[in-house]
Amino acid sequence: MAHLLLLLIPLFLYAESSFITQEEYSTQLYHSPRGIGCHLCHGEKGEGKIVAKYKHKNHLKDFKGPPINRLSYAEFYRALTERQRGMPRYFLIEEEIQALYYYLEQKNRPKKKKKKKKRHATK
Ligand code: HEC
Repeated sequence: MAHLLLLLIPLFLYAESSFITQEEYSTQLYHSPRGIGCHLCHGEKGEGKIVAKYKHKNHLKDFKGPPINRLSYAEFYRALTERQRGMPRYFLIEEEIQALYYYLEQKNRPKKKKKKKKRHATK
């Protein structure tokens, strides 16, 4: 049994590091960290989103996730390590927070730069 584990662990690490790119990993993470995706409340690119409209004391109100695509990394990090009203706590590790920030950066990057990167990758 122990032998099997010893065999499996490097395999798993290998798969993690080579079969999935940083871009794929961060995209997946953004969509399903701990079961509930950031996109549900903050939008596909972190642009912010109205999640629901409701009436409170006869006033129409909405519940929205604020835009999170213009924050500095420090602000982003702090928000994810502190309690936010209306947002689940995720208890993310630093690598996950970095990956999420990376995802938002990629998504909000001007198109021109992306092209350049692609050419690089096919080299
Ligand atoms: C259920 C809806 C919901 C989900 C899911 C959610 N958030 Fe939020 N988030 C909120 C709300 C609402 C706020 C605003 C809290 C406040 O204003 O006090 C917020 C605030 C934030 C902030 C701070 C914004 C600022 O301007 O300071 C960040 C960063 C953030 N969320 C990132 C994320 C990330 C990354 C995920 C996925 C891991 C996520 N959120 C998932 C609802 C959500």
